Amino acid sequence: MKQLIYCSNPFGFDRAMLAGILVGARRNNARDDVTGALICRHDLYLQLIEGAAPAIDALYARILRDDRHSSVRLLLSDNVETRMFPEWSMLDDEMPSMAWSPAEVQAGAVEAAPASALREIFERIATIARERTTPVV
Ligand SMILES: Cc1cc2nc3c(=O)[nH]c(=O)nc-3n(C[C@H](O)[C@H](O)[C@H](O)COP(=O)(O)O)c2cc1C
Repeated sequence: MKQLIYCSNPFGFDRAMLAGILVGARRNNARDDVTGALICRHDLYLQLIEGAAPAIDALYARILRDDRHSSVRLLLSDNVETRMFPEWSMLDDEMPSMAWSPAEVQAGAVEAAPASALREIFERIATIARERTTPVV
């Protein structure tokens, strides 16, 4: 299974546009057995997508062409055994606790982050999402 992380610059970021992206993403991803998470804030999209390699390659090609963002940069591409977001066709997160300030993002902190740090950001989101949806027994 392929797992890929990229970042990009939102073009005209607002709530309506984000909602539109998520509705389409969840529909397509459910169809294509793709899962993942999209971290979003006004100055950054950071997305993890995972699934069968042909589905991920096709999705990334569509994402590269999308004019709702610019400067799409591939940060990580890996073969993995297990999904990080098995229950989410596309989890969204506004990263209230994200480590980087706008100035750091501007200066290239995301591109400079090691793969382990990128993974850790998504692991944290996955853990929070699981805790939110798992009933306490
Ligand atoms: C930040 C961002 C994230 C996106 N994530 C997904 C996604 O996870 N799945 C998806 O199918 N499309 C996603 N899209 C939309 C694609 O770029 C593309 O518009 C869409 O897949 C085309 O779908 P359609 O052929 O149904 O029109 C994303 C777009 C942006 C800007």
